[in-house]
Order: sequence, then C-alpha cells, then structure tokens
Amino acid sequence: MSTKTMKRILVTGATGQIGSELTMELRKRYGSYNVIAAGHRRKPSEKLFSSGPFEYLDVTKKGNVGKVVEKYDVDTIYHLAAVLSAIGEQNPQLAWAVNIDGLYNVLEVAREHNVVRVFWPSSIAVFGPETSRVDTPQDAVLIPRTMYGVTKVAGELLCNYYFIRFGLDVRSVRYPGIISSETPPVGGTTDYAVKIFYEALEKKRYSCFVREDTVLPMMYMPDCTKAAIDLMDADSSRIKCRTSYNVTGISFSAGELAAEIKKHIPGFECEYKPDFRQKIADSWPMSIDDSVAREEWSWKSTYDLAAMTKDMIEKLAKRFAEGNL
Ligand code: SER
Repeated sequence: MSTKTMKRILVTGATGQIGSELTMELRKRYGSYNVIAAGHRRKPSEKLFSSGPFEYLDVTKKGNVGKVVEKYDVDTIYHLAAVLSAIGEQNPQLAWAVNIDGLYNVLEVAREHNVVRVFWPSSIAVFGPETSRVDTPQDAVLIPRTMYGVTKVAGELLCNYYFIRFGLDVRSVRYPGIISSETPPVGGTTDYAVKIFYEALEKKRYSCFVREDTVLPMMYMPDCTKAAIDLMDADSSRIKCRTSYNVTGISFSAGELAAEIKKHIPGFECEYKPDFRQKIADSWPMSIDDSVAREEWSWKSTYDLAAMTKDMIEKLAKRFAEGNL
C-alpha cells in the first residue's frame, strides 16, 4: 500500500471536452499546482495552460506516462484521453491504440508507481442492440457494435482485473452523451446535442445528423464532473462495482432538444439528415437505470432538460457576445 497522502493529480485528455472542465474544477478544490493537465493533439486553452502545470503527453507511449507520474509524484490519475465513437469507426486501429494501449499504460504505470487511485470513464457505448434500450440495467449484456464500445468493454474488464489482481483502486462510470459549453467534443455520436446550441446561436439553423425521434441518454457537464469527483471521493467500502457504474442525467429526443432551444431562440430551425452515426445511435440505450450508483455511493444528477438548455444558452450567448466562441 502506498504511503502517499497529498493529492497530486494527473489529468490525461485535459484539453478535451470533459478534461478542460474537470481539470479546472480539480484545480479549484486541490490547488492549481497539484493538478497536472496533460494533452496531446488539441492546443490547451489559455485558461488551462496558465492556471497550472501542463504537459504534452501521448498515452500510447508508456515511458512518457511514467516520466510525468514520476516528475510530479502523482498519486491520483483521471485518465480521460480517448478516441470517441464516430472517429473510432473511421479509424478503428487508432481507437484501439489510444483507448486500450493508453489505458493499459496508465494502469501499469499506476501499479508500478503506487498511484493511490485512478478514474477512467466508460460509456453507454458498451451496450449494443442485444441490450434492452429502455432503463438499461447495470448488469445488462455488453455486445457493442462500435470499436469505441469494444474498447470500453475491454477497458472495464481491464480495470476490474487490476483491482482484483493488483489491488489498484480504479473507479469508473459509464457516461452518457455529455453536453457542455466550454470545449466542444470531437468525433462522438452524441456531438449533435452540443453542436445544435452553437449553430442555434450563430446561425439560427442546424442540420442534425440523427433523426428527430432519436432518443439518447445525456448529461450536463456540472453533473459529469460531479459524478467523477463524487465517485473518487467515496469511501472504498462503498465501491462494490469495479468494472463501471451506470450513471445518467436526462433522456430526450433530438426533436425535443430542438423544441426546448426554440423557446429561447424563437426563429431557430432544425432539419434532420441522418448519416452513418444514426446506426451507432440506434445501437445504444435510450435511457439508463443508474440505481446501483445511487444506492452505493449516493450518485444523483441535478439538471433536467429545461435547466440544462437555459444554462447552456446563457453561457454560450455570453461568450458569443464577447467574440469568444
Ligand atoms: N459521447 C460518446 C460518443 O458519442 C459516447 O460515450 O462517442
């Protein structure tokens, strides 16, 4: 067991959609210089870059992960670096390398350097067409059709293995689509639920790449960062599941989201032109049963569709007015 006590946190994928906000939240809580942001392809925002340590890190290179963990004496890792579902279908080899080799490297380095705790996000993409799509339970069948989903199922099993075999305290949640205003997602299937806000404000029009009646589970960013931090803060005795917990926020159709946005931007028009991502969306659940997470570590989401939409539009409208979109 490690004797490390102080929190020195590494966030991989810190320039991504979740990482950019989770890093700032962790810096607020644990002190800016105790949270090391690591990014690879995307340039860090000025805010992320200037508010604490930043490292360029390719997680597929184990030696590099080890060097950063050593340099900062890291004891906690939030490993977010990943290729999402749509890009993963265009380049399955890259998805495997980043999502699986990257996770394996992080777990190995964590084991070798006595890292105390690791967070790694799984996804609703672990489910496939064999799974019942409404209120999908924690222990549902996992036969995904995307490479992204395959890497998430394999990753869950790998995390569970490292916990059982090496006692590494790895914790995970299966995120639904994440909606946020700070950094747009890249290459995911649920990206339409973010893009629609930007285009509604900028152009009052959006061409949506899934059908109007497509329902997927979603979550607003404050609930997303809360899920990660609540799970990481929970007492070990409460964490019974070491693959990954179902968590959810709000389920709605693309049409319902467009209608909610229209309440704030009356002239907004949305058209629907499904592309290859429709098939991916149709293989995922429409809603998720997260009662196990609620029971075991008191998980609870806070935003509904109306509150999320209002907050997204306020935040983006402000940035739009400042010329900062
Ligand atoms: N948001 C992800 C995607 O669309 C799902 O985890 O790929």
